[in-house]
Amino acid sequence: MKGVILAGGLATRLRPLTLVTNKHLLPIYNKPMVYYPLEAMVRAGVKEVLLTSAPDHAGHFANLLNAGEEFGLHLYYAVQKDPKGGIAQAIELAEKFADHEPILVILGDNIFNFDLKASIKRFEASGKGAMVFGVHLDTKSRQYGVIEIDKNGMVLSIEEKPEHPKSDIAQIGVYIYDGRVFEYIRKLKPSERGELEVTDLNNLYLKDGRLMCDIIDWWIDAGTSFDELLRANTEVARFVKEGKL
Ligand code: DAU
Repeated sequence: MKGVILAGGLATRLRPLTLVTNKHLLPIYNKPMVYYPLEAMVRAGVKEVLLTSAPDHAGHFANLLNAGEEFGLHLYYAVQKDPKGGIAQAIELAEKFADHEPILVILGDNIFNFDLKASIKRFEASGKGAMVFGVHLDTKSRQYGVIEIDKNGMVLSIEEKPEHPKSDIAQIGVYIYDGRVFEYIRKLKPSERGELEVTDLNNLYLKDGRLMCDIIDWWIDAGTSFDELLRANTEVARFVKEGKL
């Protein structure tokens, strides 16, 4: 499976830290943030990764990561002209790279130590079209998409940052899509905030009965707030020392 890491966006929630640099280059303990999704790709056995970013900082990623040799993978780059066009718009940049094969997408500010290999196998064996991942946390903060599942783990609904969450399961920034994802993205319309939303994309798969879900136990979206950025630093430091990351 090929991988796609999204490192665009404006990161307005982290200003002034992100006024002249890209959020995914900020340090998380002893490494730049973007290393963590890259290492998650390596753990999952992915060998080819496309990194998408906005025009301002695309060159910085190439300076830092080169062709991916340090990680033992082949790294490719794409530029998202509109840095806030939406997660689904950034995924669309991977159409030629994916070449009709399934893709594993990870948001560049997501940090976790879960090994995705078993989920990829489950996805491949299922015949379904997409897989989302959730984590139990307080969803009332309206920071995350919220996944509602039944007792068999089947997804009932996904809502983007709802006022009244239907569950305590946040949708994390890890997604697996089959080769039809670009067909689905072309059906999307910009949301009220002007973005092509990943939640709308996942809901198209859900409507067609083609979506599955796995739950993981530790995850941080380091781009949400200063407090989550700080928590990412302290928890990653602890995990590294305990050999858990
Ligand atoms: O992290 C999990 C959450 O990520 C999910 O719970 C939400 O359902 C999902 O919509 C997303 O919400 P965020 O508000 O956190 O998304 P954000 O705008 O911070 O973008 C997430 C990452 O995607 C970030 O690393 C930058 C990248 N991105 C974002 C946009 C809007 C792009 O590369 N291009 C874009 O146009």
